[in-house]
Amino acid sequence: MGELWFSTAIRAKRIGPFMQVAKFLTKKSSSRFLDIRMDVTNQCNLQCEMCYFSLPEKRMEKPVFMSLELFRKIARDVFPKAIFTTLSCGAESLVHPKFHSMLEIARPVSSYLKFSTNGLLLDGKLAELCVRLPVNEIIFSIDSPEKETFESIRKGASFEKLVENLKRLEEIKEKNNSALPFTTFNLVLMKSNIEQLPSYVEFAKELHASRVACQHLRVFAGLDIEKESLLGCKELANKKISEARKLAKELGIVFSAPLPLSEAEVDGIKLCDRPWTFLNLWPTGEVLPCDAWHGQEPLGDLSKNGFDEIWNGEAYEQLRESIKTGNGLRECCANCRLFAEATPKGIAKEIKYGHGQGNK
Ligand SMILES: C[S@@+](CC[C@H](N)C(=O)[O-])C[C@H]1O[C@@H](n2cnc3c(N)ncnc32)[C@H](O)[C@@H]1O
Ligand code: SF4
Ligand code: SF4
Repeated sequence: MGELWFSTAIRAKRIGPFMQVAKFLTKKSSSRFLDIRMDVTNQCNLQCEMCYFSLPEKRMEKPVFMSLELFRKIARDVFPKAIFTTLSCGAESLVHPKFHSMLEIARPVSSYLKFSTNGLLLDGKLAELCVRLPVNEIIFSIDSPEKETFESIRKGASFEKLVENLKRLEEIKEKNNSALPFTTFNLVLMKSNIEQLPSYVEFAKELHASRVACQHLRVFAGLDIEKESLLGCKELANKKISEARKLAKELGIVFSAPLPLSEAEVDGIKLCDRPWTFLNLWPTGEVLPCDAWHGQEPLGDLSKNGFDEIWNGEAYEQLRESIKTGNGLRECCANCRLFAEATPKGIAKEIKYGHGQGNK
């Protein structure tokens, strides 16, 4: 997810709660230049129908929980270089038994600290901590405002429990007179929820979210999820996105959505700045340049080497050169879905889950 919504919010003059964010962006300097997304575990408490956690091979992966020792090292060496530090990427960080301690360690060395979560494990103690530290933003992945649809997509989740957790977080913010953490409600656009998008915006408003963010479905091979793809109903999808955008504007909620589903194609590779700006960290300490690094070896390992050594090392330099020149591109870059996924061609591609990392 890009950070373009901040500039959209600012352009739309809904800058109230986003002044802080704007400050971070204008402070972008040579010392803070990274957007870090980091998994502290490879485990999750749910099996959402569109997520690779529903694949048998994912469920059979050996559990990995990052040690506090490695987390401290990364926080000390790498977080001071980040504009955005997101303590989650492809799993559910709240299942890590030491997640509270990780937030405490991360806060003093982070600029904009956030995490995304399914929200089911956000109990009172964690919510109090997020307000006290504070965490800047929590992104809640909620794929429907309606219990039945929500629970059929987010398998293993209870809608009532989630709403209870969201309300408690808002009460704690209120009690402490704090606007932080901002909350974003995030959903994957699918056939089963697209009609609900405008009511999703109302639901977000009721629960005091600052932003609604949506993304297209990535079709992972083996999930039988093609049936949820909106490629067959582009007009409906575009119509609902534009209705929701209009409503969000009226309600004062920032709304971020991917490009409309049109026939337009983008040359994705030219848009990639990830190897210069982004760091995806696996719970083992392994370093990937982005979250589209399917089937590729990591570019380094922070449990063995220092950040500068990896960032300025041969593997990173080779990748940057290949993206600049188009020569020697790796397969995942040549077929990159990250930037092409906003287009029909991009999202139509089936993705085979699997990384060259995380199996030690
Ligand atoms: C893999 S989850 C990990 C973080 C956390 N467990 C959560 O659900 O927010 C990260 C994001 O990916 C989204 N996601 C899962 N499967 C997806 C798919 N097939 N296509 C697009 N986004 C997906 C989730 O809804 C969530 O917003
Ligand atoms: S909660 Fe997040 S990681 Fe877990 S299955 Fe759902 S989308 Fe995947
Ligand atoms: S796979 Fe390559 S092109 Fe795609 S985001 Fe990653 S580094 Fe960029």
